[in-house]
Amino acid sequence: MQWLDARLPLPRLVYDSFVAYPVPRNLNYAYTFGGILALFLVLQILTGVVLAMHYAANSAIAFDSVEKIMRDVNWGWMLRYMHANGASFFFVAVYIHIFRGLYYGSYKAPREILWILGVIIFLLMMATAFMGYVLPWGQMSFWGATVITGFFTAFPLIGDPIQQLLLGGFAVDNATLNRFFSLHYLLPFMIAGVVILHVWALHVTGQTNPTGVEVKSSKDTVPFSPHATVKDGFAMVVFLIIFAYMLFYMPNYLGHPDNYVEANPLKTPSHIVPEWYFLPFYAMLRAITFNIGPIDSKLGGVLVMFGSILVLFFLPWLDTSRVRSTAFRPVYKIFFWIMVVDCIFLGWLGSRPAEGIYPTLALIGTIYYFGHFLIVLPVLGLVETPRRLPGSITEAVLARNAGGGTPAGAAAAPETKG
Ligand code: HEM
Repeated sequence: MQWLDARLPLPRLVYDSFVAYPVPRNLNYAYTFGGILALFLVLQILTGVVLAMHYAANSAIAFDSVEKIMRDVNWGWMLRYMHANGASFFFVAVYIHIFRGLYYGSYKAPREILWILGVIIFLLMMATAFMGYVLPWGQMSFWGATVITGFFTAFPLIGDPIQQLLLGGFAVDNATLNRFFSLHYLLPFMIAGVVILHVWALHVTGQTNPTGVEVKSSKDTVPFSPHATVKDGFAMVVFLIIFAYMLFYMPNYLGHPDNYVEANPLKTPSHIVPEWYFLPFYAMLRAITFNIGPIDSKLGGVLVMFGSILVLFFLPWLDTSRVRSTAFRPVYKIFFWIMVVDCIFLGWLGSRPAEGIYPTLALIGTIYYFGHFLIVLPVLGLVETPRRLPGSITEAVLARNAGGGTPAGAAAAPETKG
């Protein structure tokens, strides 16, 4: 190790980042999802690389090649189910990770760049998942791709050329499949690159913690190993057990039966739905059923959908509160949970047909979504009286251990020597 360290200080980097690195002593399980995400990124890349050895990115045989993986390739069924369900679990973890950030104000100064890198990762994840879903060349793959690439035509002038560039022609076809496969293979490595920047930025600012009070002395922290490694490891095992249950007992639960029917450009499914993790955005897209001045409803829907993610970039500057953690903001806490329910509600609406009362409900949900970030967050920060903050992380932990309890959701303090 010393020999290597003198020539390339990798052991020192690993030691400084994952052994001695000080982390706040009161991190709870919500803080384990970054590690879980890293694990799933690796899992997706490993299973994906092996799947690609057997998959054929040619519209004439893509569907059959996937069936061959399922039936003839040794453990192929497991690889494919791991990859498909792994994508879903990746999104479960990322949504928990994002909402944890929203709850504990992780995006606030000085962690703006860390947050923005996260939003970029999220966008790349969505692009990767969308293109991956097209590869099995089932009915939903084909029609999902047709609908999503069709959004771009809503933009005047540049819309059609963009759509043709994405498709490699005028309709979803072999050229589309080829470029989607190529990009689906490339993007995870770009995600990995941005994750490295993300973790780098994290190590510059340090982690937040449930109290939102910054680390003030060495008493407020514990070394990453064994404390965080054991806690993250335990959370990973629990998450993997749930993943294994899904994988072995209900592997098609999150999929759509239509995707077991080969793509047929002459037969439109009666009900085209994206994967569950896109449903809230899909609901917002379809919530705009009317023209807004010169903007027609189609363009309006597309702008609202992209805007729903764009707004996340500005969060560090939209939140005016002096207090970081929602645990000390009694009024904002209520709005935060309304927001969570709103997102689940939008997700459910996204799975409903765009008729009857559903578009109106989706419009209400969309208005709350934007209202939360553009009105509640800036205004409430100025008028809300937060609860008294503890003087330090240690004070909060000791008060809790003494039975005083803190609302910070802090875990019991790990024992530390010295
Ligand atoms: C592949 C995806 C991702 C990976 C591997 C990843 C990894 C990590 C890790 C290891 C941590 C430290 C542990 C923790 O706090 O959980 C972290 C923290 C953080 N992540 Fe991510 N992340 C990902 C996606 C995202 C996304 C999509 C966002 C936001 C949109 C985000 C925002 C943050 C923030 C703000 C922190 C600091 C948390 C704090 O200290 O309060 N991350 N991330």
